[in-house]
This record gives sequence, structure tokens and C-alpha cells, in this order.
Amino acid sequence: MKRIRFDFGNLLASRLEGGVDEALLEGVLADRFRTAHAEVEELRGTGVLGFYDLPFSAENVDRVVELADGFGQWFQDVVVLGIGGSGLGAVSLKEALLGPGWNDRSEESRDHFPRLHVVDNPDPVTLAALLDRLEPRQTMFNVVSKSGATAETMAQYLVARGWIEAAVGADKARGHFLFTTDPAAGALRQIGDAEDIPMLPVPENVGGRFSVLSPVGLLPAAVCGVDPRALLAGAADMVERCATDELTDNPAGMLGTLLHHADTAMGQGIHVLMPYSDRLRPVALWFQQLWAESLGKAATRSGEKAETGPTPLASIGATDQHSLMQLFMEGPRDKVVVFVGVDDVGTSMEIPDRHPGIVSIAYLGGHTLEELLDAERAASAEALRLRGRPNATLHLPRVDEEALGQLFMLFQIATVYAGALYDVNPLDQPGVELGKRLTYGLMGREGFERPELAEVDPRWVL
Ligand code: PA5
Repeated sequence: MKRIRFDFGNLLASRLEGGVDEALLEGVLADRFRTAHAEVEELRGTGVLGFYDLPFSAENVDRVVELADGFGQWFQDVVVLGIGGSGLGAVSLKEALLGPGWNDRSEESRDHFPRLHVVDNPDPVTLAALLDRLEPRQTMFNVVSKSGATAETMAQYLVARGWIEAAVGADKARGHFLFTTDPAAGALRQIGDAEDIPMLPVPENVGGRFSVLSPVGLLPAAVCGVDPRALLAGAADMVERCATDELTDNPAGMLGTLLHHADTAMGQGIHVLMPYSDRLRPVALWFQQLWAESLGKAATRSGEKAETGPTPLASIGATDQHSLMQLFMEGPRDKVVVFVGVDDVGTSMEIPDRHPGIVSIAYLGGHTLEELLDAERAASAEALRLRGRPNATLHLPRVDEEALGQLFMLFQIATVYAGALYDVNPLDQPGVELGKRLTYGLMGREGFERPELAEVDPRWVL
């Protein structure tokens, strides 16, 4: 298997003014990581880090393939309804592995696999526009919610169910749904059991943002012909690479440790993920959710006030060289940029040598677009380095199943290491509860009082 390489040289003092002293990699950072690794291994032992085991769970993937082949692929359109960790993984896999414009391609060029839509936000304009384009008889909804109670997803499920029923009748409607949810609890499980709707489990010990390699991400991908076993093989390889407690041999350990150190010791708490590949755009958003929701916490693991956590920022190269890069280069020195480059993009496009007399563009002729994109990535990394701005690069051999499996697992393991280093619980998200409860109150859910929202004062509204 071709492996991801993590080049962190542009974070180190020998290459970067004000960078991390290399001695620390063998000294205090190595020790700190060894402790974090031991804590993560201990947690694994208690069974709460189920994402580590997903690559090795054959029965999960067998059931995914069975439902993808024997059910999902009968439809022309598959719509995933899921938000946060229940939606971002599917979008990332879709864009990365099905490539741009999947839904616009002809049936033949999709090899007769369905179109795939992922709807997260309950924006009626988006859902109405989508339903307008779809034929209900040919549409399947994969409703994804670990809790089976998320307002956004459940509201959209209810709309979708009504829309299907209006077209095919109440009896046949259930044949257009597949639920991915908790193996035992929640409203979706209850409905699925009562109505004999096919269901896939999100293992009890796998939280939303760590679920991309569970049926949450695998089913939508497999329905469209992605090989889930290759994804899991990539992830398994990364688990193996990260088994060591030697910092300098463990890629997720190095990523988590250096980003934590950058934040807590060097004031670089904004962590930018900047892939140079349109296909990886959603992966940057997936990382943003993983890093933010796992590490931004009010309290330490023992309950002391912390209000800690880095701020992740999704970016895209080369587009953001004409937008955010000015800030990265000259703004506050509070960021680390992690680039993602792709060695073999799989498509080559030569730039014609058309205007040899016009010096400002003549140099482009005879090169390829992928050469230009990669030169821009390398140039941006070097430009940042020359200005003393820390950065690192993840090199993907290709954008394929194995590489994506490695990448997702790398970030997930780096996140639980970072949780240990920040001394926070990376698996919960108590901060989102208050907003949820207030929403329930506003929407009239039983048991929740309607909240008194702060009054609008006309003096403060222009
Ligand atoms: O990462 C998380 O745990 C969250 O972002 C959840 O995925 C999100 O809130 C959706 O939850 P559920 O899958 O229960 O609908």
C-alpha cells in the first residue's frame, strides 16, 4: 500500500525562524506524547474508542455491501439525511472518490450507480429544490442519526416520508428508506423496528464525528460503487502505523503533538487545513468539525475550568491564495497551516503553448495544470516558511480509497491524542446542548419550556 507522508520540517527551528527546537522531539514532546499515547491506549481498553476497531469489523462491512448492492443500487437517486458527523463523512467520500460532477454525469458514465445527495441543513429552499428534481419512485433516503433524535435530520425525514408517501402510498413508502442509527435506542430505531425498515448500526462506542468509516460513511459510498474494504484497509494500515509510542515514528502522534504544542506554547491556536485538490474540499470541513467539537471544551477531564481548544479553519488551495493567504502571510502569528498535496492526481491536462511572445503567460505553455497546482502548494509552503510562518504538508499518494482511509484514521487518532494533551474529553460535546434545549422550547417539544429570549431593543437594531 502506498502510504501518506507527513512532512513537518517547516515547523522545526532548523528550517523555520522561531520554530520548534528539534531537541524537544526527543525530549519533552516525546515524553508528553508517550503519556498521551498510554492514556489513549487505556481508553481503548475500556472500549469507548470504537472507531479504532472499525477497519477490522468484517460483519459491519458485509452488511453494508449487502444493503448497498441489494437495495440502494436499485434506485436512481440516494439522498443522505444527516448533519454534523452524520453528514460530513458522506460528503467527503462522495467528492473525493466519486469525483466532481458525479450527479451531472449520465447513467452510463456512472456505471449505472445512483446519484448521491447529502442534505444536512434543514433549509427548505435546498430540500424543496432537490425534491423538485427527483422522481420519488426512484429515490431512496438513507436517514443517518446516531441518536435518532436530531431535530434537523428528523424534521427532514418527516418531510421526505410524506413526499414519498404522497407518490407511492403509505404501504410502499417504507421500501424507500434505510436508517443508519444506534443499534438499540432512539426514535429512528423505534420506527425502523415497528415498520420493518432496513437498518444499519452505528456502533454504540462510535460517536458521530468518528463514524465516517462505520456504515454512516460506508453505505452511501458503497451504494455508488466505492470499495469499502479498500477504505478500511487504508485505515487499518494507519492504526498499525500509530501503534507505537515513539513520537518520531507515529504520524498521528506527531500531528497531534505539534499542533497542540503550537497552540499552547507558541500562541498558534488557529489550525488551517488546506488541501490542494478540489476533491478534498469537504475533507477540510470534516476535519474542522472533528477538531473543533472534540477539543473546544469548557472543562478538563477532571472537571476543572479550561475553556481551551484550537480553532480549525478549512481552506482550499490554490483558491485561497487569492483570499486567506494574505492573512496567513502577514496577519497575526497565530496559525499553523497544514497543506495536503496529492502526488498522482490521476488526470493530466497539458497547458497549450499558445502565446510564446507574451512573456507574462508564455512560461505556462508545455506545463500541466497539475504541475501548476502542485507548484503553488510548494511555493506557498516555502513562502510561509521564509516569513517564519509554521506549516506542514500531508502528501497523499493518490485520492483513492486506501489513501482516504489512511487520512481519516490519521486525523481521528491525532484528535484523541490531542484530547489527552489538552486534558479534555474528545468524545463529548456538552456545549451544543443548551442551544438544542432552547430550540426544543421554541418548537414546543413536550417537557421543554418556551424560553424567554433576550428582548429586542430597537435602540440596538439599525
Ligand atoms: O460529532 C457529533 O457527535 C455530532 O456532530 C453529531 O454527529 C451530530 O450532532 C448529529 O448527531 P446524530 O447522528 O445523533 O443525528
